[in-house]
Amino acid sequence: MKVTVYNCREFDEKALFEKYAQELGIELILCPDAPDARNASLAEGAQCIDIITSRMPGELLSVFADYGVKYVTTRTIGYDHIDVKAARELGMTVANAPYGPCGVADYAVMLILMTIRKMKRILERTNIQDYSLKGIQGRELKDLTVGIIGTGRIGRTVLRDLSGFGCKLIAYDLYENQEVYKTGAAYVSLEEMWRRADVISLHAPLTDENYHMIDEKAIAQMRDGVMIVNTARGGLIDTQALICGIESGKIGGAGLDVVENEFGLYYYDHKSDILNNRELAILRGFPNVTVSHHMAFYTDDCVETVVRDSLLGCKYFVEGKENPWEVRD
Ligand code: NAI
Repeated sequence: MKVTVYNCREFDEKALFEKYAQELGIELILCPDAPDARNASLAEGAQCIDIITSRMPGELLSVFADYGVKYVTTRTIGYDHIDVKAARELGMTVANAPYGPCGVADYAVMLILMTIRKMKRILERTNIQDYSLKGIQGRELKDLTVGIIGTGRIGRTVLRDLSGFGCKLIAYDLYENQEVYKTGAAYVSLEEMWRRADVISLHAPLTDENYHMIDEKAIAQMRDGVMIVNTARGGLIDTQALICGIESGKIGGAGLDVVENEFGLYYYDHKSDILNNRELAILRGFPNVTVSHHMAFYTDDCVETVVRDSLLGCKYFVEGKENPWEVRD
């Protein structure tokens, strides 16, 4: 069997792909670029393609379907970049490859701490030998209420990790999970979350229903100086509303591993380019906003797991076996 891998990174993924392909008896075509209509022919004769977070709209899926592709796996947990409905109509199966939650959870806790301790400002100052203190006084987690939106694998791990810090924990999800109560957290409504949380950390997938769940109206209901951390998906936050909230001082800080319209920017070296994402430039410029380029997943453990399981899912699919990573919703 053959799998065409797009966006294959030479420096960390290639050797892992070769190792697991050999173990699983898979022939690989490795392409460093994102899938598009021009390089889709690389998938001819392969039933499966393996991608990351590049956009896969219906038109592009249809090009791949014409080359005989029947299975699209994404080396990510979120799959909002793939038009799953269109894939289904084309007779294609979509799957993801979830890795352990600890890498992203660690990162979220780090961004929470960096945000409440004003770490961006501190680092900027020490880099230019400005050792003054004015304006960089932080807050302590024990005095804060942290709200977690989305209590799936990552959200629950963040709650578990934070339970040692002595902060009050509140949570919101469409469905309650009993494990959450073991962390000392209480489920609340979204209104109560906005009203009570000093820090809000997002861990829900992006869906049609929760697109821009943090918008102007939600921000108006939040505590003055609220801090927002997003390691989930940029589309959960209305960026314009976020920028206005930061400019007015309503929002006291943010840690953003993901932003709206990051496709085509993140994971490429654009340092000499003029970019067309003004919101990102504005956010990067704020002294109280830490921006990173969708890095939360990027640990040795996550990369190895995702490469292995994305190929394993292809094998299950081709052999007609039960595939735990198939997207069914
Ligand atoms: P999961 O599927 O285990 O949990 C997601 C939770 O969100 C579920 O409990 C679900 O009920 C809840 N949820 C769904 N819609 C919701 C809504 N409208 N409001 C509140 N809760 C809602 O997923 P997991 O593994 O915890 O990952 C969460 C998200 O983190 C992923 O969907 C992905 O977007 C993001 N992610 C980001 C990474 C990064 O590198 N920054 C890496 C991995 C995941």
